[in-house]
Amino acid sequence: MKTQIQQLLQQTLDVLITKKILPEEGVYRIQVDRTKDKAHGDLSTNLAMMTCKAAKKPPRELAQLIIDNMPASELVIKAEIAGPGFINIFLNSNILAQQIEAALLDERLGIAKVQQVQTIVVDMSSPNLAKEMHVGHLRSSVIGDAVTRSLEFLGHKMIRQNHVGDWGTQFGMLLAYMEELRAQGKSGSSNLADLEVFYRAAKGRFDESEEFATRARNLVVELQSGNPQCLELWQEFKDISIAHCQEIYDRLGVALTTADVKGESAYNDDLKQVVDDLEACGILEQSQDAKCVFLDEFKTKTGEPLPVIIQKKDGGFLYATTDLAAMRYRQNVLKADRVLYFVDARQALHFQQVFMVAKKAKFVSQQISLEHMPFGTVMGDDGKPFKTRSGNVAKLADLLTEAQQRALALVQQKSPEKDPQEMRQIADLVGIASVKYADLSKNRTSNYVFSFDQMLKFEGNTATYMLYAYARIVSIFNKAGLDMAKLEGSVVLEHEKELELAGKLMQFDEAVNAVARLGNPHLLCSYLFELAGIFSSFYEACPLIKAESETQKQSRFKLAALTAKTLQQGLDLLGIKTLERM
Ligand code: ARG
Repeated sequence: MKTQIQQLLQQTLDVLITKKILPEEGVYRIQVDRTKDKAHGDLSTNLAMMTCKAAKKPPRELAQLIIDNMPASELVIKAEIAGPGFINIFLNSNILAQQIEAALLDERLGIAKVQQVQTIVVDMSSPNLAKEMHVGHLRSSVIGDAVTRSLEFLGHKMIRQNHVGDWGTQFGMLLAYMEELRAQGKSGSSNLADLEVFYRAAKGRFDESEEFATRARNLVVELQSGNPQCLELWQEFKDISIAHCQEIYDRLGVALTTADVKGESAYNDDLKQVVDDLEACGILEQSQDAKCVFLDEFKTKTGEPLPVIIQKKDGGFLYATTDLAAMRYRQNVLKADRVLYFVDARQALHFQQVFMVAKKAKFVSQQISLEHMPFGTVMGDDGKPFKTRSGNVAKLADLLTEAQQRALALVQQKSPEKDPQEMRQIADLVGIASVKYADLSKNRTSNYVFSFDQMLKFEGNTATYMLYAYARIVSIFNKAGLDMAKLEGSVVLEHEKELELAGKLMQFDEAVNAVARLGNPHLLCSYLFELAGIFSSFYEACPLIKAESETQKQSRFKLAALTAKTLQQGLDLLGIKTLERM
C-alpha cells in the first residue's frame, strides 16, 4: 500500500508541476511513513514541508494544494493536514483485504507476468575446469540462480550459460600428466577423483621436469590443432570435471544442468573470425607483437593507453577474444535482449572493455543490454580472502559438508528426541540453505565474511530463522486442525498489526521485481526477513486460535496462510527449499 500511495503522490506532484505550482526542475523525494497513532490515519507524509521552499508557499497551504490535486483513488478514504504541514492519509482497508483474498486464491500470489517478454541470457557459475570449484564460484552460482528464477517467474525467457574455462595452456600440463598416468595403467576417473590433488601433481611434474614441460606445451598445440587423440583425452578430463561441478549444483539446488555448459572451447572456431572482423573495421592495432584494441575511454593510472589484447604473437587468443565471440553468439543465435554476467567484481574492467569493443565493432546491436553483475569477495575472519585452515583455497564441496555437519550437531542438541533419519534430512537442508542464504542476503557488491557460526544462528536474517518462521506457521495450522486451502469467510483488517501484515504482504510483488531489475537477491531476503518479523508481532498481538469470533479467526488464519505461502514462494525464488517441520 505504501508504494501505491507513493505512486499516487508522484502523480499529484506531476499535476502540480503541470499547473506550475511546483517548478519542473526540482528533485522531489517522496517519503511516506506509517503513523504511530491510528487516529491520525494510516500513513503520513512530510511532502508539503519538503517542497514548500520550491513552491514558495507556506507548508500548510501547499499541503492543501496537494490534497486538492490528489487523483481520486479507491485506496484513500481521506487525507488531512496535521501540525505544521504533514498530510495524514486514511486508507481503505477493504481494498487491502480484497487484495489479500485475491492473492490467496492465485497460485502466483497476485504477481503478474510481464507484458513484454525478454530473452535473457545469464552467464553464471563458469568455473575453470582445470581446478575444483571453490568458494568464489558459490556466489556466481547461487546469486545467478536466484536472479534467474525471479526473472523466469515474471515470465521472461531465460537461457543459462555456464561459460566454463575448458581451454588454454594449463590443459597441456593436465593432459601430459593424464597420459603419463595412463601409460602406468591408471584409469582417468580414479586419478581425477580429487581435481585439486591432480592439478597439484601435474604442476609438480611441470615444474620439476623440462622434458614434461615440453611435452605439455606440445600437447597444447596438438589440442588446438584438433589432434583426435588429444581431443579424446581432453574430453575425458572435461567430462569428469563437469561431473564434479554437476554434483555441486545438485547439492546446492542450483538449476544448472550439463546442457547449460557452453565453455570457452565452444567459441574456438570463431576466434580467427573475430580477429579478422576487428581488423576489417579498423580498430585492431599491432602493439609489441600482439594484436590489440585501444579504447580512448581506458587509460592506465599514468595516462598510458590500456590495450585489450586480442591475439598474442604466438597466435594464441585471449579471454577477451572468447568473450567477444560469446557475445555474438548470444545475440545472433540465442537472440538475447539482455545478457547478465554474474562474475567477480575484480573482472569489472575486463567487462567494460569487451562490452565497448563489441559495440564499437558492431558485433552486437546498440540495443542489447550487456550487464556485468559484479559480486564482492568471500572473506575469512582474518579479513583476507577466505582460505582453509591449512591455507589452501576452500573447496566448495568441503564447505557444504561442513555446514551440514554443523547443522546436524545443532539439530541433535535442540531436539534430541527426533528420529535420526529425520535429523539428517533437516540438517542437510538447513546446512545448504544456510550457506546459500548467508551469501544471498548480503548486498551483492560487498565483500562478506564467511562464518559458519553466523550463518547457522537462529536469530537474525539467517536461513534458520526464515525456515523456522515458515515451519512455525505450518505448525500453527496443524495445531488448530485447519487446512490452508480450506479457509472460509473474508479477510477483515481491524487491528493495527493485521493492517501492517497485510500491507507488507502486498509488497512481495515489488521485492520480486526489484530482484529481477537490479540482480540483487538481498532485496528479497530483506523483504522476507521483515515479513517474518511483522508476522511474529502480529501473532503476539492478535490471537489466532483464540480469536474473539469465528469470522476473526478465519480472517487471521488467512493472513497467516498468505504469509506462509509468500515465505515459501520467496525462498523458492532464492533457490531455497522449505521444511514443514523443524
Ligand atoms: N572462468 C572465469 C573465472 O573463473 C569466469 C568466466 C566468466 N564469464 C565470462 N563470460 N567471462 O574467473
